[in-house]
Formats: sequence, C-alpha cells, structure tokens
Amino acid sequence: MKNMEVVVEGNCYVSGRLERCCVGIDNGRISKIAKVLDGDKVYQYDGKLVLPGAIDAHVHFRDPGLTAKEDFGTGSLSAACGGVTCVFDMPNTKPPTTTLSALREKRRLAESKSLVDFGLFAGVRPGMDVPSLAKEAVGFKLYMASTTGELLVPSLDAVKDELAAIGPTGKVLAVHAENESMRKKDAEESLEDHMKNRSADCESSAIRKVRGAAKNCRLHICHLSSKASLPLVTNVPNMTVEVTPHHLLLDTASKIGTLGKVNPPLRRREDRQGLFQAVKDGVFDNIASDHAPHTVEEKEEDFDYAPTGMPGVETLLPLMLHHVRERHIDLGAAVRMMCERPAEIFGLNKGKIEPGYDADLVVVDMQAAGVIRGSALHSKCGWTAFEGMLGIFPKAVFLGGASVIESGNQTGDHRGRDVVGQPA
Ligand code: DOR
Ligand code: ZN
Ligand code: ZN
Repeated sequence: MKNMEVVVEGNCYVSGRLERCCVGIDNGRISKIAKVLDGDKVYQYDGKLVLPGAIDAHVHFRDPGLTAKEDFGTGSLSAACGGVTCVFDMPNTKPPTTTLSALREKRRLAESKSLVDFGLFAGVRPGMDVPSLAKEAVGFKLYMASTTGELLVPSLDAVKDELAAIGPTGKVLAVHAENESMRKKDAEESLEDHMKNRSADCESSAIRKVRGAAKNCRLHICHLSSKASLPLVTNVPNMTVEVTPHHLLLDTASKIGTLGKVNPPLRRREDRQGLFQAVKDGVFDNIASDHAPHTVEEKEEDFDYAPTGMPGVETLLPLMLHHVRERHIDLGAAVRMMCERPAEIFGLNKGKIEPGYDADLVVVDMQAAGVIRGSALHSKCGWTAFEGMLGIFPKAVFLGGASVIESGNQTGDHRGRDVVGQPA
C-alpha cells in the first residue's frame, strides 16, 4: 500500500469519541483514518488529544487601515498559536469592507500574510451591491449600534432593500444586536457604568427588530451578552447564536478596568452564569472570540474615552479546554461549538476529523494547563483581559497537513487561503 504523505497519530476525536488512531493526510485533506498507517512524514503524539482545528467565526484583524492595533500576520499567528486554524474577519476596517474592491484588496493582504485560512465578511450599508459581494464574502455583517468603525446603519429601514437581497443569496447575516436608539450616553467611569448605558433591553430589542426586518435571512446573532435575551434565541428557526469567552468568564466585578470595556458590555455575575448554563444546555451554536485588539496606549485613556473591544483569538480554545478539563463543559460540546458548528453554518469542509475534510488539526495535552500572560501572546496589542487565568494551549497545530506550530513555536510559513471560492 502506498504511504500517506503525512500521518498524525494520537488520541483523536473521531465521530464523537476519542480513539487511539492515525490520521492519514494527502493533498491537504484527511484521506484515511486507521489504527495503523505509514506515512512519508509521521508525527506521533502519545497520550495527547488530536482535535479538529478551531474556527473563530468572529475576529477583527484590523487590516487594512488600523494596523497599529493588529494586522493579518500578527492576528493569524496569534490564532494559530491558540489552535484556531480558520478565522472570519469583520468588515469594520479602513476602508470598511462594503465594496467588491475593498473585499478583494483585503483578500490580497490576507493571502500575503495569513498563516491560517480565512473568510471575509462584507458590511451591510445602504446602496451596497449584495449579489456581487455574496459571491466572494463568507457572510454579511450588520451593525445595529455604534462601536469601533463607521458601519452603524442609520436604521433597519434604510437597508431594507439590501436585507431583502441577502436572503436569497443563502449567505449568513451576522448581527451586532444592540438598539442604538435605546443606548444611553451618560459619562462612564467603570464597567458597571458601561453596562448601564447598554442595557440588556437594548440587546433584546435589537434581536426582536432584526427578526422582523430580515425575515428571509439566515440570521446569526453575534456575542449574546445577557440572560434576558436567551428566550429570544433558543430554538428559533433560521437563526444561529454565538457567545464569547469574555461574556462567559468576565463580569462587571472583574478588576480589569478599560480592558473589559467591550460592546455588547460585560454584565453582572448572574448574566454570566446564565450564559454558562445556556452553553451546557446547548443553546449556543458557536463560541467565537470577537478578537478586537486596541493598543495599550488607547486602553490607558480615561474610561469614557477608551475604545471598546479586547483580543481573544489565541485564548479562545485554551480557556474553553481548561473548562473541559475542569468538567464544566463536555469535550464534545466544546468541539461542536468551536469546530463543527461554525463549519456547518458557513458551509466549510472543516471542523471534523473525517476523510474528505481539510487536515487542520490541533494537538493538546490536557494535563498541561498554563497561566495566560498577555506578554506571551502573539497579538500586536500585547495584553489580555484574561491575565492570570488558566488555559490549555496546543502543543502542535497543522494546517492542510502542514505543521505550523510545534511546542508553541512557528514551524512553517504556510499561507492561509480564502475559504470562499474565488472567481478566476
Ligand atoms: O467592543 C467591540 N469592539 N464591539 C464591536 O462590535 C466592535 C469591536 C471592535 O472592532 O473594536
Ligand atoms: Zn459586535
Ligand atoms: Zn466584533
């Protein structure tokens, strides 16, 4: 029998369970799974877990235009070091990704710098060309409240034709659901003040409004932040829902000042616990980081002036695996929310260890939790709101069967590709 090009052996997560076996890889895809396989290159990971690479469906890599905060090179290295092998980048860059030429320029930049695979979101804006963007974007993103960038839509009515055109394309409409008109603008000095300006009602109201306005769209509610919104997103046809590690693990009592200033805001402990319970109950489709880096200098501004957002692509999988190890979440649920569901929702050939799927793999030692330190992460911003928490970082990461990270170090200069087919 002919050798496989690459074989990765370990305790692999296959068909919903862990199994000691070999994953055989040819031409970047998984070609065979068996107890024993010979390969031209063989990687053996005794006693370690081999999982599908994580897909982070929500990152802001700031390229082009805001590259003092991050760029596709540093963002994707940070992703790979955290076991994220595919990211979807948000459109609030400079210029915003609302035209085909801006999307193609961003793709050109990402292809030249990205270590991991990627998809690009197009921003919803009045007058945009929906059919042409739908062919090349991974999905559409709608901002219902002002936040970093300039993509706030004036009203849902102002984009009703665009929303009506998105439905038939079959692409996902991802929504930042906060009702701008309900947002208070009182001066803020703390996370508690920031939360009060952006109440849970502000979120629930936006979810109701967008359901009414985008009836024919596949809605994806980003970063759900409040317990009160849960009934609005549980078992709703044509709707998927996302949660972030920061809304699950941090709250207004966390002593992190402006580092925890984010939209939608961190809320009280009861909200966080309600969201964690909803993870256990299977309410969420995916966990994404909403990686939104800003420089230390920007975050050192007075509370009211500091920008919103925090990095997280590198700590997403490690934090969640730590909670798997602590038995707060099942391994199967973690893999479903970080690998399988994002791939299914966005139609990718990824997220599972199965013949025919892309050979994006992450190797972890569940006994080896490490303390998270901003200074040791690879984002350009150099800080994390999860400082001091425990995380299980990957030992090795493979993209399309190529080793990109080994023992925490970059091993190859693999080039990621756009997961959406591009016209010739
Ligand atoms: O806090 C946030 N930061 N929320 C967003 O929706 C955008 C993000 C950013 O891009 O900085
Ligand atoms: Zn958002
Ligand atoms: Zn975001």
